[in-house]
Amino acid sequence: MPNAAYDLTLRPSIFYFPYPLLGSFMTTLADYLNQHASSPALNDVITTVTNVGKTISQLLRKGALADILGEAGNQNVQGEDQKKLDILANDLLLDALAKNTHCAGVASEELDDATPANDDGSLLVLFDPLDGSSNIDINMAVGTIFSVLPYERQGQTSENSDYLQAGNKQLAAGYLLYGTSTVLALTIADKVVMFSLDPETEDYVLIEDNVQIDADTSEYAINSSNYRYWRAPMQQYIDELIAGETGVRGRDFNTRWVAAMVGDVHRILCRGGLFTYPFDTKYAHKAGKLRLMYEANPMSLLIERAGGGATDAVNRILDIEPTDIHQRVPVVLGSKNEVNYVRDLHVNYSEQ
Ligand code: F6P
Ligand code: MN
Repeated sequence: MPNAAYDLTLRPSIFYFPYPLLGSFMTTLADYLNQHASSPALNDVITTVTNVGKTISQLLRKGALADILGEAGNQNVQGEDQKKLDILANDLLLDALAKNTHCAGVASEELDDATPANDDGSLLVLFDPLDGSSNIDINMAVGTIFSVLPYERQGQTSENSDYLQAGNKQLAAGYLLYGTSTVLALTIADKVVMFSLDPETEDYVLIEDNVQIDADTSEYAINSSNYRYWRAPMQQYIDELIAGETGVRGRDFNTRWVAAMVGDVHRILCRGGLFTYPFDTKYAHKAGKLRLMYEANPMSLLIERAGGGATDAVNRILDIEPTDIHQRVPVVLGSKNEVNYVRDLHVNYSEQ
């Protein structure tokens, strides 16, 4: 005999899906885009990306049952192992965007070169199809990060060089976080908004209409196992946080590390914090681990528009002029006063 208190099938749906009660007050992603997207093209491209997000979300829900876990036996352009779902997510996004008449081309973490789409399109789409992919096999949060840039050579076939635009040129940016629920964070105008995917109706429903990050925080995210490879000012910064109330900061700090940037950035948009993947000397050819164009830039636009800061430790990430679609960059982002504190440590150190 099922316990009625836990058997949701015995209850009318309004008890556990309260938002339909709001009726016309509920805002779906479609409503929001119609009201706020600067062009039908932008509206259409974001709709395509977020529709693919629904499919990826469903695949992740099925997990091992969908036969999508584990290695695919290839390496991506960064020399990292690809998981089956990395490739699947990449292919789903690529196929859907190639059919979108507004999309002139697609650049992905998983593809060495950008893929031309429709020459008459006005937009370029860049994405990390599955961020935090080492989390897939352990049933932890992963996500899709995307960035939309203008395409300046409409009528001609897009090339890698067309993507080399600073992050401040982005027309839209966002991520889908596939966590205990699927959440979309998006910025298309001056605000950052969040939607939750209703698994019943398959609608993205607006849950936050103006995300703002506190300037101060006592929470930070870093992979400390790389400590010995960091530069001295970053070592000093983390030493100060660990010293807590016994050191110069005079208060205690707490660590949180999701091991998927999308999860750490989401936490920061929800309750503040500092996230960094700093410069390190672990691998000689890497300036940092994260990729500028489809990780750091879209996340920096979201964080800045929510009132936070995003630097490479010293310089504003959104002003970096890219030279390669896959280039890496050190990242320090989150609560503004903390990001500025890290910058001051680095500037003062280099001036000594
Ligand atoms: O995309 C790279 C990434 O998976 C990020 O999502 C994450 O923040 C980071 O790498 C984790 O790196 P590490 O495994 O070195 O802690
Ligand atoms: Mn990633």
